[in-house]
Parts: sequence; C-alpha cells; structure tokens
Amino acid sequence: MARVPLGVVGCGGIAKQHQRAWRQVREREPDLVEIVATCDAHRPSAERYADEVAGFQASRPEVYEGVEEMLRAGRVRAADVCTPHHLHHVVALQCLAAGVAVQVEKPSGLTVKATKRMIEEANRRGLVLATAENVRRGPSQRTAWWLLHESGRLGSAQGFCMQRVQHQPPAEPAQAPAWVWRADRTRSAGGWVIDSGAHFMDTVRYLFGDVESVYGCVRDVVPHPMVHDGLRAFDQREDFFAAILQFESGVVGQWARTTVFPGHDWFQCAIYGSRGAIVDPSGDIFHGPRPHAEVRVEGQAPRTLEDIYPEFLASLSPERRERLFPHGFTDGFTLECYDFAQAVATGREVEVSAEDGLRAKAAAFAIYESSLSGQAVRVRDVLDGKVDAYQRWLNEKWGI
Ligand SMILES: NC(=O)c1ccc[n+]([C@@H]2O[C@H](COP(=O)([O-])OP(=O)(O)OC[C@H]3O[C@@H](n4cnc5c(N)ncnc54)[C@H](O)[C@@H]3O)[C@@H](O)[C@H]2O)c1
Repeated sequence: MARVPLGVVGCGGIAKQHQRAWRQVREREPDLVEIVATCDAHRPSAERYADEVAGFQASRPEVYEGVEEMLRAGRVRAADVCTPHHLHHVVALQCLAAGVAVQVEKPSGLTVKATKRMIEEANRRGLVLATAENVRRGPSQRTAWWLLHESGRLGSAQGFCMQRVQHQPPAEPAQAPAWVWRADRTRSAGGWVIDSGAHFMDTVRYLFGDVESVYGCVRDVVPHPMVHDGLRAFDQREDFFAAILQFESGVVGQWARTTVFPGHDWFQCAIYGSRGAIVDPSGDIFHGPRPHAEVRVEGQAPRTLEDIYPEFLASLSPERRERLFPHGFTDGFTLECYDFAQAVATGREVEVSAEDGLRAKAAAFAIYESSLSGQAVRVRDVLDGKVDAYQRWLNEKWGI
C-alpha cells in the first residue's frame, strides 16, 4: 500500500489539532500517510506548520499560498481542509476536480447547496469526501451509544434536554478575535447553531438517528461590539437560541443556549432512556455526554461513563474494537484523520461521510429557517432546497 501524500489546507487553529492527530497516526502507522504540502493564504502560517511537520516525519512539506498552486504541483492525493466555512466548498471542489480526495472540517460546506455540489463532484469522480467529525468518536459518546442501543441498561431512547444559560455580558468593545471570519455571517453562516451545532447535530444523529422536524427561535438580543482593523464592528452571531427537535425514531429533544439572560445561570444536560438517564455535570450542550456524565438507573448507584467504558470495550468483538479504536486511539481528531487516510488508501468507506455532514447541517439550518418563518420546519424540506430563505442570500452572495 503506497503512502497517501496529503496536503493540509488552512493552517490555523484547528489544523493544529489535526497536526497532532497526523503525528499520532504516523507514529503508529508510518506507511499510511505523509504530509507533502501545507497551504495557507497567510504564508507564515503554512511555513510554521511545515516546520512543525518536519519535526515528526523525514521530509518537510512544500509550502503554498494558494490551492491552485498546490494542486498544479500534482503531489497530493488527499487534502485535509481546515479553512473558514465560506471556503470549504471552494477548496473542496478545486481538489476534487483535480482528482484529490477530501476531508473537510465541519460544517462541511457553507450551505446545503454548497455541500450537495461537493457530494455530486465526489460521486462523479469516485473520490472520498469525508466530514472531519471528532466528537462522536470519543469513548464517552461511544459508550452512551452502547448504553442506549445494545446493552439494554437504559431501555429505549426517549429524548434529551440540553439547555444552558450563562450570563456573559459583551465586553466594550472587544478586540476582534484572530478568527474574526466567524463573527461575519456571510463567512460563517451563523453562530452556535451551525458552528458547534454541527458537532451537536452529528452527535444526536449518531445517538438517535435523523431529525425529522424542528421548531426553533434564534435571536441576537444584545449587540456585541468589537474592533477589527481599527474599525468598530458587530459580532453578527446569535446570542440566544432555543429549539425543539423531533426525530424520525420518535425521540424528542430540547436544545437551547444563551449568554444574555442575567441573574440566574443554570444548565440541564440529560439524555433519557425508558429506564434511566445519562446526566452530564459539565454543562456542555454541544458535544454529547462527557466521561464524567453519570448514568442513573432507578435502584442502582450512579456510575460514570468513564467507569462503564471498560465494560463496553469488553463487549466488542476484536474486529469492531479495531474499527472503533484502531491502534487503541481514543482521541476524536486522531480517529477521524486515521479513518480518512484508511479510506483513501484502501477504498473503504469513511464513518462520517459528506452526506452525514449534510444531514447534520440541514438539521441545524432548519433551526434558522424555522426561526425566520415562525413555523416548524421539516428537515427533509431543507435538504431538498424547498425551504431555504435563511441560506438563499448566502448562496447568492457566493454564487453557489
Ligand atoms: N472539530 C472541532 O472541534 C473544530 C474546532 C474549531 C474549528 N473547527 C472548524 O475548523 C475550520 C477552521 O476553523 P479555525 O478555528 O481553525 O479557523 P482559523 O481562522 O484559526 O484558521 C483558518 C485558516 O485558514 C486560512 N485560510 C483562509 N483563507 C484561505 C485560503 N483561501 N486558502 C488557504 N488557507 C486559507 C487562514 O489564514 C487560517 O490560517 C472551520 O470549519 C471550523 O468550524 C473545528
């Protein structure tokens, strides 16, 4: 099996996590992948990244400022795309057109239409197109799935309540963060609902199946001023959302977050089966249950997911165990990168395809669409493009 020559496109914040992951993959399987190119519009970022990569593989990657240039050099067979959201489809389509397999960070394309274009191109060319999704792969999320679907300990999945109020008054006016593109809806497509919400939607799809319909309310209640390039601007992302989700499986869920209600911070993060619950004391409403989440079944002492994890592992056949935690990896980034590289090298399918990313994203967009129309929205209609008022202006702006 020839090593997969890989290019990393976008060498910013999350690409550092990917670098750690690629390093781990190479430590355990040096012949699987080699980073031959780094690409960033900000050249010093790509140079620094190449230097760091040279610290754990024999060769230093070539450095590029533009994707066209990287593709023209003809060395990469796979690309790991870690750019801002509005560039996901642009970079992915360029790579796919050049015959290069692609892993794209969540939310895998700016809009539903953008992701569909990517999928069509990948299918036409028979290339791997993966969504970089790390969260569902963690031991606690895998253990939660087992408790709900195989072990029988929690009975059948019923629903969840994941809500958080955490008062964080806006600073006056804050220096724009380095990743200021996020605060611009034209480049990010939205705030929590589509950003960390992409992880949330993937995790709940993993645990409960596809979302059938959504009622959502999204608001920007308090203006969040910031200074960018010496100019005063506003963070355009929502500071309040609340949604009710109905799944095709019959499961129902409540999901909400705000940072603008003063006087009483609180959270509730619980997943319910017919016999008990998984209760997460971390208050994280985006990433599914964490290792310290407690499993509570009537008449039994509470136990953490971390505590139960070895029993889940013991229940797995050697093949399944190797598929879920190859080489004993448990870090979600390492697992997603390994999965992608294996798929490119061997032709097998990835666990989280672009189609999965699309379905998670459509459920998140359904919340914005519902908020705009004031009506409950079927996710199927968002996927089919019948409901697209929220995304239409983004598609028009970027010519999608
Ligand atoms: N999985 C996770 O937990 C997680 C966490 C954070 C971010 N992300 C995702 O990762 C992606 C990137 O987010 P980030 O926080 O790393 O952003 P970032 O701003 O830190 O990094 C983006 C990088 O892309 C580069 N870039 C911009 N335009 C480019 C172009 N035309 N060609 C090449 N490079 C270009 C920028 O210079 C920057 O270095 C987003 O999709 C985001 O949602 C995922």
